[in-house]
Amino acid sequence: MKIFKNKKKLNREISDLKKIAFVPTMGALHRGHISLIKKAKKKSNQVLVSIFINPKQFNSKQDYKKYPRKLNEDIKILKKIKINFLYLPTYRDIYMFKPKNKIYLDNFSKILCGKFRPSHFIGVVNVVNRFLEIIKPRFLYLGLKDFQQLSIIKSHVIKNKIKTEIIDCPTIREGNGMAISSRNLKLTKNQLINAGKIYKFIKQNKKLIFYKIYNNKKSEVIEKLIKLGANKIDYIECLNLNTKKICNSPKFRFNIFISYYIGNVRPVSYTHLTLPTKRIV
Ligand code: PAF
Repeated sequence: MKIFKNKKKLNREISDLKKIAFVPTMGALHRGHISLIKKAKKKSNQVLVSIFINPKQFNSKQDYKKYPRKLNEDIKILKKIKINFLYLPTYRDIYMFKPKNKIYLDNFSKILCGKFRPSHFIGVVNVVNRFLEIIKPRFLYLGLKDFQQLSIIKSHVIKNKIKTEIIDCPTIREGNGMAISSRNLKLTKNQLINAGKIYKFIKQNKKLIFYKIYNNKKSEVIEKLIKLGANKIDYIECLNLNTKKICNSPKFRFNIFISYYIGNVRPVSYTHLTLPTKRIV
């Protein structure tokens, strides 16, 4: 595994490679990342992983500072799974150049997390676009766990006619059902148990939750979630995945999206429960 901290050296190494499979991460690698990397390895023998905690996608300095950092462990994991290249850019390496593409922010960025974390998605698209301009990968691997992020990045790539294919990767879950995320490291044992209970409640009551929201009784759902251990709920919505709009008719297939606090931990992707209809019995 070759490690690069600057894009000039990286480019010297990869500029002739035509099949780069790129997995962008913010480190604190877990089974979710590993499944993305394994998928990338199956497709290509030119796998490049980046680790960069992008300050521009955090809504508070505090949250950025508290984000888990585990670089030494991450390097060990990546060496073990045998990726080809690891890119560990500095802030300057990423941000001190003028990108060619214009950032395109799909309207989908205005709802759900976009409403509660106003500069988050622009920060994500900005950094991913810069990575794509530097690396020019053939494939980009992103998790369905962050469905809104994935969908917004896809729109940007299409709008700018970027020649990178985005590969959606399934959500990997803990034994208790909650999506695996670096931020889970911040939760206590008890909080993890509660997150599992919340997942189970939503999964088992998908239709009921829809009808409560549909009949203007969302507060009853929120009350129940608070009883189960949530501290504060930013949103809970049913989303029609085809239109990417809040679902307002029981006729359409929908997924439930939720973002909530547990303890003092900020609402982040680990709390987003995307529940494909087909998984519900
Ligand atoms: O999903 C993430 O970890 C980040 O948003 C990403 C895609 C690496 C951009 O910083």
